[in-house]
Amino acid sequence: MDLKTKPLDEQVALVTGGGTGIGRAFAGALADAGARVVIASRDESKLRSAADELNAAAGAERVHTYAFDVRVREQCEALVRHCVEQFGSLDVLINNSGLAVPETVEEITEEGWETVLQTNLKGAMWLVRAALPLMAAHGFGDIVNVSSQAGKHGYADVPSYCASKWGLLGFAEAVRDHVRKTGANVRVFNLCPGLVDVEHTAPDAPPRPGFVHVSNMAKTLRYVLSLDREVVLEDINIYAR
Ligand SMILES: NC(=O)c1ccc[n+]([C@@H]2O[C@H](COP(=O)([O-])OP(=O)(O)OC[C@H]3O[C@@H](n4cnc5c(N)ncnc54)[C@H](OP(=O)(O)O)[C@@H]3O)[C@@H](O)[C@H]2O)c1
Repeated sequence: MDLKTKPLDEQVALVTGGGTGIGRAFAGALADAGARVVIASRDESKLRSAADELNAAAGAERVHTYAFDVRVREQCEALVRHCVEQFGSLDVLINNSGLAVPETVEEITEEGWETVLQTNLKGAMWLVRAALPLMAAHGFGDIVNVSSQAGKHGYADVPSYCASKWGLLGFAEAVRDHVRKTGANVRVFNLCPGLVDVEHTAPDAPPRPGFVHVSNMAKTLRYVLSLDREVVLEDINIYAR
């Protein structure tokens, strides 16, 4: 099997929620490796200041911003089109946008449930739905889903979050099966972190007890993307000891 390869510095990556926290760390790692990176979420000012800082650190204009709401199908489709029209391809899609609404099972509301499921699961589905045919036609692509330890274990305070993150893993399995059956050169990785400290992010700042330093998420991303195309790696569980 001779699967197409592409160096990271020729790739275009889309990181949803790339202006803050884990997504920002992903965007920085990709920009440092020379990729062009589109960071996308709702808050344009957060995106702008992250892009300015990451570009200053990389010493080049590699990080670009795009305001969108992942809960809206048309906005997901427009974002994927934007990446391809503006930068020529979409090689790495990182489904990182996400949130939790803490409501126990006895407190669940229509609004809380819908917000979480639409943001964490349905939005990722629309992005994959739009990006996968383009990746397949291009003969190259990677999809990285940020699930959670809560995608594998249940927590009483966030049942909707658990359902969304388990759902993301189930959706990814179906996409993998589709890729296997169609022979597309597209890999699907799930990252399942426990607690990640997105407040103490300076390289030398110790993470809070029980939390992983966010730089480990960036290292993990670089690692999974570096694997040979023939290698299948599915989920990574990462948490503090
Ligand atoms: N930190 C942890 O301990 C941890 C552990 C396991 C998994 N995770 C997962 O990691 C991912 C990143 O979380 P984080 O910890 O880095 O928190 P964060 O800084 O709050 O990041 C979440 C991002 O999602 C974006 N977002 C939220 N709603 C959106 C919407 N409707 N449309 C587009 N973007 C939206 C936010 O940007 P805007 O507000 O600008 O839209 C924000 O940049 C999430 O999926 C989270 O579930 C985090």
